[in-house]
Amino acid sequence: MKNNKIAVITGASSGIGKAFAQHFAETGYDLIITGRRIEKLSAIARQIREKSGVSVEIVLAELSVEEEVLNLINTIKSHNNVFVLVNNAGFGSGIEFCQNELSSHLQMVHTHVVASIELVYAVLPQMISRKEGIIINVSSLGAYMPAPGSSIYSATKLFLKSFSESLYMEVHKHGIKVQCLCPGFTHTEFHQHRADGQLAQGNKLLWMDTETVLETSIKAINKDKIICIPGMINKLLVGVSAILPRKLYYWLMQRSGKNARKALPAAEKGKDAGVPGFLNKINRFLMNCFPENIRPAIGQGLTQNNCSTKTF
Ligand SMILES: NC(=O)c1ccc[n+]([C@@H]2O[C@H](COP(=O)([O-])OP(=O)(O)OC[C@H]3O[C@@H](n4cnc5c(N)ncnc54)[C@H](OP(=O)(O)O)[C@@H]3O)[C@@H](O)[C@H]2O)c1
Repeated sequence: MKNNKIAVITGASSGIGKAFAQHFAETGYDLIITGRRIEKLSAIARQIREKSGVSVEIVLAELSVEEEVLNLINTIKSHNNVFVLVNNAGFGSGIEFCQNELSSHLQMVHTHVVASIELVYAVLPQMISRKEGIIINVSSLGAYMPAPGSSIYSATKLFLKSFSESLYMEVHKHGIKVQCLCPGFTHTEFHQHRADGQLAQGNKLLWMDTETVLETSIKAINKDKIICIPGMINKLLVGVSAILPRKLYYWLMQRSGKNARKALPAAEKGKDAGVPGFLNKINRFLMNCFPENIRPAIGQGLTQNNCSTKTF
């Protein structure tokens, strides 16, 4: 590794993790990147080395397997100069609890929760002794909005939120920044791997690109904001779902699931099948608050992140 500072990014072979890797390389960090797909990681590492001139080390790791996490931790400890950790690797299922394999639930718990704990535990002593560091735990809007088909996903993402907040209170006195990043629908490979992945492709207003998510996260870190929810619509969704009577919320989310399943044949034919009904309804309600002629511009503005990022 050429430089002093290293950023460790898990799940950097695509999507949000790849965007974080490119960002930290451009700001001069050497990288340790992880994932399971060597071809993707090698291509990204090559691209980053050529563009930014930093060192990039690849550690192949299935993060639900203890030995592979330990191998990553040994690499981290051998360098002893990790300044940034992004716990980003993750996946969804979209399958109802009883219909999914128990092993798949446990794989998710280990990847989202156990590996994140172990990696934070490994980097903190280095960061505390230097009085400098950044830890970003990539959670999800799902932490605030449990839904059918997301029982373990939402629960593990809620863990990351709570973990990040407690951690912040403990370590900010040592000069360490902690962020819990809670993106909503983001264009990545994530939805291709979910059983209901193609259902959510319809409503453009609810979707963001990885660059916007990254930019919002970095701005929030610079302002020392702990919870980062990119996009005004996502913030509104969290706010509205929190004040709804819980039974009404459950009913709406269950209906959303049914609507989404009904929409599957349309989505398969490439039609605008739409997002789950509840999100669509809130989105339509919000847009109806504005005159018709300025709605498209507002929609664009809300999904691009020109709104401030607040701590919820
Ligand atoms: N996209 C969204 O709409 C959205 C919304 C909210 C939150 N998020 C969160 O954002 C994070 C990044 O997801 P993304 O949207 O960028 O999806 P993505 O493009 O599918 O990327 C997921 C990354 O995680 C890695 N990964 C997944 N499971 C893994 C495992 N068991 N062990 C090791 N690595 C694993 C993947 O690497 P390999 O496949 O190479 O192993 C890949 O690099 C996730 O934590 C996700 O929950 C995404």
